[in-house]
Amino acid sequence: MLPRDVILTGPLILRPPVESDAGEIARMCDDPVTARFMPLLPRPFLPEHALDYVNGAAARWEAGGATYAITRDERFCGIVTARPPDHWDVAELGYLVAPWARGGGVAAMAARALTDWLFDQGVRRVQLEAEVENVASLRVAYKAGFLEEGRRRDAKRLRDGRYADFVMFGRLKGDVAGPAEPYLPFFEGGFERGELTDGVVRLAPLAPGDAGDFNRMLAEPTVAAYAMAETSTLEDDERRCRYTGYWWASGQRIELAVRDAASGAFAGHLQLRQVAPVMGQAMIGYSLVPAFRGRGYMSRAVGLLAEWVFAHTALHRLTAGTDVTNTASQAVLERSGFRREGVHRELFPKVDGRRADEVTWARLRPS
Ligand SMILES: CC(C)(COP(=O)(O)OP(=O)(O)OC[C@H]1O[C@@H](n2cnc3c(N)ncnc32)[C@H](O)[C@@H]1OP(=O)(O)O)[C@@H](O)C(=O)NCCC(=O)NCCS
Repeated sequence: MLPRDVILTGPLILRPPVESDAGEIARMCDDPVTARFMPLLPRPFLPEHALDYVNGAAARWEAGGATYAITRDERFCGIVTARPPDHWDVAELGYLVAPWARGGGVAAMAARALTDWLFDQGVRRVQLEAEVENVASLRVAYKAGFLEEGRRRDAKRLRDGRYADFVMFGRLKGDVAGPAEPYLPFFEGGFERGELTDGVVRLAPLAPGDAGDFNRMLAEPTVAAYAMAETSTLEDDERRCRYTGYWWASGQRIELAVRDAASGAFAGHLQLRQVAPVMGQAMIGYSLVPAFRGRGYMSRAVGLLAEWVFAHTALHRLTAGTDVTNTASQAVLERSGFRREGVHRELFPKVDGRRADEVTWARLRPS
């Protein structure tokens, strides 16, 4: 059984919960973000639910787990828990921070401290999982020194009946748990609010609300003509839009909606993918809705993204590949500072079985 130690970490004190925490626990759990990402909690979450939770904590300790209240300056600010270590000394972590304490590093500090403490108690491996859309929780996992280990598709059902994918993380006792500075930071203002704009176009994360426009655009014949895969279904594209935050937070790719700044209308899609930190290289890809073509929107969008990339990431080379026949796309790259580098013969598989030559382009970090 784990000892009921008090854990001190930075400005936080982790201690077993007490009855007087129940009011704050009720307020914390009756919040829309909590309800969204913790679908098994009662909704509405009432004071009696909070009291049951506090009273049940003793039994959870007895069963071999750990339930800690996180406090800062003597104020309750969240809960961090460990399930009883299993037969192989593997424990599972969970965390929840009150709305009034979010965004200050509380969850990451508490998760890291509880994990370190579990290792001191003989636990060998600590794991946790977060929904692909729970970007704050994904960041917490990276910041607390966890490594991503894979995904579980359709792992849990949400309140709206939909099944969601979860990202699995683990930390082993011997892991060097350094500070996880993201390779691809979010735009200034954070994942949900950050955007890039020049007053004409606006770049913001591709969101589930864009799935319909995105799907229609991909099916449009002049877009589909340059696609390497069969046209995707609306369901595929909705799923893809839900992955934007996870792909970005994990440094794999950035998926953006290009919007008309004046109206907010969806004008197209711009992505940064094939991110290869060891090479300092990533590739862009894009498509524009026909109604927004001929106005220089994609050249502006690519220029904005390229400038941001060189100002905020360690990338040295931005590349792009266009079908040799796609002169409109080649003009976008020329206008946005890319130089032609060569031709890959028969690179692009087409849906009709032919293969097209690809012209490669690159824009380098300014010296
Ligand atoms: C997930 C949660 C515990 C994070 O708590 P927290 O103390 O705010 O976390 P931290 O401050 O340590 O880190 C949050 C990170 O996510 C970012 N973040 C916060 N809100 C965000 C949001 N809505 N979208 C994207 N990122 C967000 C923060 O900027 C921070 O990252 P950064 O340091 O790179 O800037 C809290 O949001 C919460 O309780 N959510 C509901 C319950 C839950 O989801 N629990 C986890 C289930 S797996």
